[in-house]
Amino acid sequence: MGQAKIYYDSDADLGVLNRKKIVFLGFGNQGSAQAQNLRDSGIPNDQILIANRVDSYAETAKAKGFHVEHDFATAAEVADVLFILIPDQVQPRVFNEQFSPKMKSNATIVVASGYNVFFNLLKFQSGQDVVMVAPRMIGSSVRSLHEKGRGFPCFVSVEQNGTGKGLDVALALSRAIGATKQGAIASSVREETAMDLFAEQALWPNIIMMFREAFNVLKDAGCSDEALCYEMWMSKEPAEIFERAADDGFVAQLKHHSTISQYGQLGGSLKLGGEAMREHFKDILDNQILNGKFCEAFSQIEGDLDKEGDTNPLNELYRRSEEMELVKAEKRVKARLAGLL
Ligand code: NAI
Repeated sequence: MGQAKIYYDSDADLGVLNRKKIVFLGFGNQGSAQAQNLRDSGIPNDQILIANRVDSYAETAKAKGFHVEHDFATAAEVADVLFILIPDQVQPRVFNEQFSPKMKSNATIVVASGYNVFFNLLKFQSGQDVVMVAPRMIGSSVRSLHEKGRGFPCFVSVEQNGTGKGLDVALALSRAIGATKQGAIASSVREETAMDLFAEQALWPNIIMMFREAFNVLKDAGCSDEALCYEMWMSKEPAEIFERAADDGFVAQLKHHSTISQYGQLGGSLKLGGEAMREHFKDILDNQILNGKFCEAFSQIEGDLDKEGDTNPLNELYRRSEEMELVKAEKRVKARLAGLL
């Protein structure tokens, strides 16, 4: 693929939003941040509607002066633009049953994550625009950076261009929520979903496994729990390394380390060819993520994630993971530090 296009404020015309009714389904992390940013960008409050069930999020929206609609059918009927900003796992049910059948045939639907669109879990009408405006930031930062006059990283794409004006609307919305200030990167739901799920199912599982096994080997070699926990993560050194990697460069940050460390890290990583890991990663990407196998398996157990106790599969994964020596040692060290042992 190579270089991605980057869109800035100057690529976007807020005028295309004139008189459009912009509905935010959800006023949580992203909904509250994006709706407030959009209003600050000069979109009149009367053009904005928060569609929210009766809960504390709706109360917060009202307290901030927004118009709130609890009846989703009414919100669906008036929407020229619909931001879907409720949790990903509830989007298909809520959108397909309560919004989709009532919506205008030329509306623009905006998602902040690629998953449901990539795996065809949302039902759109063919004349509608479907766009992704996906901040790469938690909602509170989307809001606070905008308040400071700064932007935030964001992916933007047009997935279905029913009106032929999908990109203009997507860029205007991106600008209105503050996403083109720093540059919004042209992406796709495929790219966003592949990268997200790959990080979650390939990269981080290996990192967790490597920490687990590194801990076991060093513990067997006589290192104490306290020394290991601090050396490996409790000192926050790994967090600092990643911060410096973002600021100085992935490899250039090594220059902050001792000469012995630089020599060991560079020499050691170059010695590891990585062929087996590349195959393993490719297998997960092709045969678990992109082919929809994970999505299908997850949809089978999704309903069980609300259950209490052992029948909740996530609780079961936590229970097994907490059997790791690393986790047991960490508990002992933390208890000791709190003066409990
Ligand atoms: P959230 O968890 O903050 O959503 C809360 C909102 O969803 C509330 O308004 C609540 O009333 C509503 N809601 C929850 N369950 C509902 C149901 N069953 N029926 C109707 N409404 C319901 O959501 P968040 O984290 O803002 O995520 C929204 C979207 O943004 C997702 O697609 C997510 O992947 C994406 N995203 C989230 C980021 C974050 O900072 N958490 C970062 C980037 C993208």
